[in-house]
Amino acid sequence: MRRFLIAGNWKMNCGPKETSTLLQGIENIIGNMPKAVDGLVCPPTISLTTASVELQDIDGLALGAQNVHSEDNGAYTGEVSTEMLTEVNCEYVILGHSERRQYFGETDKTVNAKVNKALNDGLKPVICVGESLEQRKANEHKLRVKKQVQGALIGVEEDDASNLVIAYEPIWAIGTGETATPDQAQEMHKMIREELSELYSEEAAAKIRILYGGSMKPHNAEELLQKPDVDGGLIGGASLKADSFTDIIHIANELS
Ligand code: PGA
Repeated sequence: MRRFLIAGNWKMNCGPKETSTLLQGIENIIGNMPKAVDGLVCPPTISLTTASVELQDIDGLALGAQNVHSEDNGAYTGEVSTEMLTEVNCEYVILGHSERRQYFGETDKTVNAKVNKALNDGLKPVICVGESLEQRKANEHKLRVKKQVQGALIGVEEDDASNLVIAYEPIWAIGTGETATPDQAQEMHKMIREELSELYSEEAAAKIRILYGGSMKPHNAEELLQKPDVDGGLIGGASLKADSFTDIIHIANELS
C-alpha cells in the first residue's frame, strides 16, 4: 500500500543552469513519472525557483529543499524559511542529513525543531537517520538510529505521521560506493517501523515511507527496493545524471 518514493538529493551540485539541463534530461527520458511511483528532486536553494518552473512539465516529480530554519523569519543570515520554500512550490524538505549533522552542527534537537516547523507549515520532512562505521562496529547502530528517530519526532502527533518520510542512511555508505546489503537495510528499516508503531500505531507506521540512502545505484536498486520495508531511495550521486536517476525510477516502477 506504500508507493515507492524515489528522491534525489543533489547536495551542493547544480546551479540554475545545470538544474534546467538535468530536469530537461529527465523529462526527455521519462516524460512524466510512471503512475505507480512518486518522484522528488532536492536541488540547492538557489536553484529551487528554476526547478519549480521546469517541473511544471513533469507530472509526479515533486520539489524539495535540503534544509530549512525553525523560525518564521528574521535575523538568521544565510538561512531560508518554510514560507519561502512553499512559495516556490516545495512540498518536501530533507532534514538532519548526516552531512548537516557532521559539518553544520545539526543535532537531534535542532532536527526536531525543524521537523515540527516543517509539518506545521505544510512541508513534508524527509528525516535522515543513520549510524557511523564506528557505531556499527560497536554494535550500537540500532540504538543510535532509534534515538535519532525518537529525538526527531518529539511533539509530532499521529495525525501528522502520514506526512513523514524517514531516510535510513548509514554514514559509511554515503558517497563511498559501499552499500548496506539488502538484509542490513531491511533489518534497520524494520526496526525503524517498529519504533514508529510504538510511537504512534501500527496503522500509522504502515503508512510512513522509509527510504534507503547510501550509494543506491541502478545496479543495486532492485535488490534493495525488493525488501518489504524499503519504500524508496534517497539518492545522491546517481541522482545527478538523468539516465541513472531515471533507471532507478524504472526499476521502482517494475517492482510496483
Ligand atoms: P549517495 O548519497 O547516493 O551519493 O551515497 C546519498 C545521500 O547522502 O543522501
